[in-house]
Amino acid sequence: MSRKKVTVVGAGNVGASLAWTLARMNLSDVVLLDIPETKGMPAGKALDMKQSGAIFGFDGDIVGGSDWNLAQGSDVVVITAGVPRKPGMSRDDLLLINAKIVSSVAVQVKAKAPQSIVIVISNPLDAMCAVVQRVTGFPRERVLGMAGVLDSARMRTFLAQELNVSINNVHACVLGGHGDSMVPLPRYSTVSGVSIVELLPKDRLEKIIQRTRDGGAEIVKLLETGSAFYAPSASAAEMVEAILLDNKKILPCAALLQGEYGVKGLFVGVPVKLGARGLEEVVILKLTSDEEKAFKTSVDSVQSLLKVLDGKLTK
Ligand code: APR
Repeated sequence: MSRKKVTVVGAGNVGASLAWTLARMNLSDVVLLDIPETKGMPAGKALDMKQSGAIFGFDGDIVGGSDWNLAQGSDVVVITAGVPRKPGMSRDDLLLINAKIVSSVAVQVKAKAPQSIVIVISNPLDAMCAVVQRVTGFPRERVLGMAGVLDSARMRTFLAQELNVSINNVHACVLGGHGDSMVPLPRYSTVSGVSIVELLPKDRLEKIIQRTRDGGAEIVKLLETGSAFYAPSASAAEMVEAILLDNKKILPCAALLQGEYGVKGLFVGVPVKLGARGLEEVVILKLTSDEEKAFKTSVDSVQSLLKVLDGKLTK
C-alpha cells in the first residue's frame, strides 16, 4: 500500500512548520505548495526538511513547488495561504485579501484533489472555511477549520501554569468563532476530570479566559512582523493525524452546522468527531443560558463577516 499524501498550501511560517511537523510524525508523504517571489522557496524548504529525516528517522517523502500537479490525489489538503495580521489588526481585517487567495486555492483543490479532506487555517477562519466549501462544493464532512484545537491549547497552557499541574492532565473546551468573541467554556474544562470552576476563584478564571481570547494578539504584538505559527501548526497536525489514523478523536473544529446548536449554514467552532471520513459527528454539549448567549454573539460576528464578504463579492 502506498503512503497517504498531505498537501500543505502556503510555505510560510504556519505552512512550513506544519509540513515539518507532519514529516516528523511519519504519517504520510508531504507536499508543500506556494507561489512566492523567490520561486525556489517551497522546493528549498522541502529539501531541507527531507534531509532532517536522516536524523529524525522518517521515511515519508517531502517535496515542494508551485505546480498544483504535485497535489494530485492528496488525501488531506491544509490551506495556510494568505497574509497574517500585523500588530493592531484583528483577524477580521484580513477578510477580503485572504478571501481572494483562499478562493483561488480552493479552485485548484477541487481540480487536483477532489476527494481530499480540507483543513483551513487562513484567517478569518470561519469565513475562509465558507469560501472553501462554496468554491469546492465539498460536503461538510470534508471541509473543516483549525481554530478550537489552538484556542483550547492556549487555555490549557495557561491553566497548567496557573495550577502548576501537567499539561497532560488539563482539558479545555473553547467553542464559537475564532475571533475576539470565542467562547471558552470553564464548566467543560477540567483537570483530571475536575471542573476548573471548582479549582480556581472567579477572578483568576476570568483572567485566563481573557488571555485565551487574546492569545493570538499577544503573540502578534511580540512578533511585530507576523502571527503565531508553532502552536497553530501543531494544532492542525493533530487534526490531520486524527483523520489519517481514523482515531475518532473529538476535537473542537470549525464545522458547517446544519441545525446543530440552533445554527444553519454557518461555520462555527464546535466539538467534532474526526476520522477517516473527516467530520463524522458534531458533538452536542448542553449549554447554560449564559453560555448560549455568548455562543450566539460569536455566531453573529461570524455571520456579519460573511455578509461583508457576500456584499463585496456580488458588487
Ligand atoms: N497559493 C499558495 N501560497 C500562497 C498563495 C497562493 N495563492 N498566496 C499566498 N501564499 C503564501 C505566501 O507566499 C506565503 O509564503 O502563503 C504564505 C503565508 O505565509 P506567511 O506570510 O508566513 O503567513 P503565516 O504566518 O504562515 O500565516 C498564514 O494562517 O494563521 C493564519 O492568520 C494567518 O491567514 C494567515 C495564515
